[in-house]
Amino acid sequence: MAYLMKRWSQGGHPERSFSKREFDFTLRWNVAEAAARYRLSHGRLVKLRLCGKTTFATSEAKVIEHIMGPGARNYLLRPGQHWGLAAIGMLDRGIIWNQHLDSFRKNRECFQNALRSSELTRGSSLARKATCRWISTFSLQWEEVDMMDAMGELTVRTALPLFFEIDADELGTEELRELRNSIKGYFKAWEFFLLKPPIYRVFDFLRSLLGGPSRCKEAQAKVRRVQMAIDRLLSRIPEEKWSSGIWLPSIRKMSHVDRRQMCIELLLASADTSSVTLYYTLVLLAQRKDLRQELVAEIEASRAGKVIDEASLRSLDKMDSALKESMRLKPVGPMILRTAIAEDAIPLESGELRVARGTHFILNIRDFHVDKEYFPSPSDVSPDRYKDPSQNRLFTPFGRGPKSCVGQHFAMLEMKAILCEVLQRLEFRTKQDLATMETRWDIANHPVAPEAFEVRQTEKFCQGRGEKFRLTSRSSGLPEEQ
Ligand code: HEM
Repeated sequence: MAYLMKRWSQGGHPERSFSKREFDFTLRWNVAEAAARYRLSHGRLVKLRLCGKTTFATSEAKVIEHIMGPGARNYLLRPGQHWGLAAIGMLDRGIIWNQHLDSFRKNRECFQNALRSSELTRGSSLARKATCRWISTFSLQWEEVDMMDAMGELTVRTALPLFFEIDADELGTEELRELRNSIKGYFKAWEFFLLKPPIYRVFDFLRSLLGGPSRCKEAQAKVRRVQMAIDRLLSRIPEEKWSSGIWLPSIRKMSHVDRRQMCIELLLASADTSSVTLYYTLVLLAQRKDLRQELVAEIEASRAGKVIDEASLRSLDKMDSALKESMRLKPVGPMILRTAIAEDAIPLESGELRVARGTHFILNIRDFHVDKEYFPSPSDVSPDRYKDPSQNRLFTPFGRGPKSCVGQHFAMLEMKAILCEVLQRLEFRTKQDLATMETRWDIANHPVAPEAFEVRQTEKFCQGRGEKFRLTSRSSGLPEEQ
């Protein structure tokens, strides 16, 4: 029986492996935990129920490749509860969970334009400058630094002038910190509301009647907080700036609520993705001194005595592969969620998987990227694995196709620009270990307790201490988002 269950769940007769586990996905565990458990108990393709619809949780290459590749146009939406999406302001707004196809396409185009190559050039230069300025605050003595926070600050300091024409210093410490914390809070509210069944509201109401906290109200307050922070940010932009750059003119024509949601999603999608990936990569490089030396040698060969520019950044293949390895082992987006907008048939080893319109998919990228059938010796950190075309093709940290990460090229350039400066100009060490580090798997995967790094400037580049910009979350009495 167990054998048959496994065969069905692995694709022999996938339509028969049905089990009703909506509760597990929404109330007992979060989506990433539930998908990982079913991967272990049922195999690579499991049929379930989520948001009242048939759902496949899968780490099967054939399914993932189809949804990202030949079938991609049929999977342009993501599953979400309408009441929850409305509570976080995403229902038929923005890009990420927009359920209205025409509006999604229009808004995606807006993002694509704002992230086109001229903006990438400006973005990588802003990232480099912010990093140099931060590095110049250190000396030749070892100092403790909250690296996770530092990376978060650098990415926000890049995004603000790039998209909003605002220098982060103009905001002041308190406002910048509030902006960063409110985005983190919104992330949690998003994870909270996204898949909760409507019945949850009744439990929550009963709990509040009995004197307990209303989780819905708490999450709603986080949404309101980020909306206010974005309103403040937008109100700072002088009239003439609304016609410069690409992002501001394109959102200017929208209604206030739509414009605000687009900005929340831009910061949400960009802030804690690149910075967390950078953190994981730095932990990896602190452990792997050999790899770090190879990367420094690659940078030196590429810059040939000049300031590193965008063309040199693009040529850093080894660095590309090191970032890929950290994303493979610790993907900041461990689950890709999609909904079929048309009927489809996905070819499997034996037969095909028939997909009805409205079927949901949870693409379990986390387990897929460490499956030894697809990525041999998965726990080895091996940047050279991407020379193998099969592993390179299967590797999917940003998704692929018309619903893939719209910021992936920007993210890679920004991370490389920051890494280049850090690797050349800082020595760093930490006790944290990438393999054993505890992380919280949900829609996003963040470290549970990021440890401090010790850093100092390298003698070669040290030009004395510069003017300090202090990390905002360490420098004021405002409460941090939990
Ligand atoms: C290391 C950094 C990043 C990682 C690993 C990452 C990963 C992802 C993943 C896995 C998705 C879902 C893709 C899919 O469904 O196929 C996604 C979507 C998205 N990402 Fe990223 N991302 C990163 C950085 C960024 C940045 C810097 C931006 C913006 C500047 C951004 C903007 C977006 C947006 C707007 C979407 C939604 C696209 C849509 O629904 O059409 N991301 N990202």
